[in-house]
Amino acid sequence: MRMSQRTRKLALALHVVFSVGWIGISASMVVLALVGLNTTHPGVRVGSYNALMTLDETIMGIFALVSLITGVWLGLGTPFGLIRYWWVVAKQVLFGLVMIGAFGFTHIWVIGGLDEALATGGITSGGVALVFGAPTLMALLTAAAVISVYKPWGRTPRGKRPAGTTVVVKDIRLVAEDIVSVALADPKGASLDAWTPGAHVDLILPSGKVRQYSIHSDPADRSAYRCAVLLERDGRGGSREIHGLKPGKRIAIRGPRNNFPLVDAPSYLFVAGGIGVTPLMPMIRSVDDRRIPWRLVYVGRSLRSMAFAMELRNRYPGRVALHPRDTTNRPDLAAILRWAPSDCHVYSCGPERLLEALTRIVPSQRLHIEHFVASTALSDLPKQPFDVVLASTSTKLTIPSEQTLLAALREYAPGIEASCEDGVCGTCKVAVLSGVPEHRDNVLQPAERDRDDVIYPCVSRAKSARLVLDL
Ligand code: FES
Repeated sequence: MRMSQRTRKLALALHVVFSVGWIGISASMVVLALVGLNTTHPGVRVGSYNALMTLDETIMGIFALVSLITGVWLGLGTPFGLIRYWWVVAKQVLFGLVMIGAFGFTHIWVIGGLDEALATGGITSGGVALVFGAPTLMALLTAAAVISVYKPWGRTPRGKRPAGTTVVVKDIRLVAEDIVSVALADPKGASLDAWTPGAHVDLILPSGKVRQYSIHSDPADRSAYRCAVLLERDGRGGSREIHGLKPGKRIAIRGPRNNFPLVDAPSYLFVAGGIGVTPLMPMIRSVDDRRIPWRLVYVGRSLRSMAFAMELRNRYPGRVALHPRDTTNRPDLAAILRWAPSDCHVYSCGPERLLEALTRIVPSQRLHIEHFVASTALSDLPKQPFDVVLASTSTKLTIPSEQTLLAALREYAPGIEASCEDGVCGTCKVAVLSGVPEHRDNVLQPAERDRDDVIYPCVSRAKSARLVLDL
């Protein structure tokens, strides 16, 4: 359960005050231990050990307890967790050593030292050891405080594992050459979250790879999400892993999330390139159910490689034009658009060349596109350093040209989510409060490229010298 910002600040304030206080008490104990050892006056020695006893048995216990409780509270209530970051783990180890040292050794040395001082006015070997033990505990506490400030070493393997909702593979079937459709359902058969046409889910695979796939089934059917996956033989292994899934296998998902929503329009032209037909299928179903005029132009390598091609043509006779490249010419998109109504909205998903061609001939207000992969034209642009301010803490960061904004933010806003880190999935979206973002993502639609209220920090940067982010 995440804390509100107000609660987090309260817990953090208590943690800092009581942790620093604990260090201060340890410093006092170092001084008293030295006085107790070095004094030649028995009364002063008794006084030193009495003071040590008071600190050790009362005040130190309270400060240690509050510091530990607020530390655990902060860990559980923030994305830092207890075992997600190495610096948090290191702090727990240091606190563990301090507790062992305090209860197992220094406490006993203080009691023994006081008894000896009262009985004979002399010093015990424990009193000598205390002169070394107390500074050691103070050094461990100081190290924990320094680690909290610098937060070094990044995430643990547990922290790197993306979180998600568990689903089970209900069935997986071949729908075209090298394309499978996989149905993902709740393991107990419960209804899945609602979604709208154009939505996608992040599949978190057993290997830890995260891949985004559009849902191509019917939004009214909440019993399963169905995604079609093209086997990319030269890819990074995600699609191959999905093709190897068997019914009954459990994986995790995040979402659904929709960066490609269907807006109301008097008519639609859908243009699909290969596997890009999948987000368009629920759109077509929705538009057809509402009897709004539409057409689909579907381009592919060959009929065998075009998923759902015959199903679409048979279900919607006269509305679907198939263009397998091995037997037909490429469609003349400009000519098709000349015949389309002037207020027709164009939805397209497919390879970069197809989307670029549409961007040249369709006005941005009527064009809605979804990319498979990041556009190289955007990612190859030169990068300049810029400043960022996190509004909640007024933390100021300078983002050097060789670092992404996301990488810099992760240290200060560990809850920030990311998935593709390529500017395609929309997971890392952050609100911008002031400044002008330089959008290098492929999430924003052509008509949204001037928005200054949002940024996708995995790839985007700043046009202005400074951005203020709602973080
Ligand atoms: S992580 Fe996918 S758009 Fe940023």
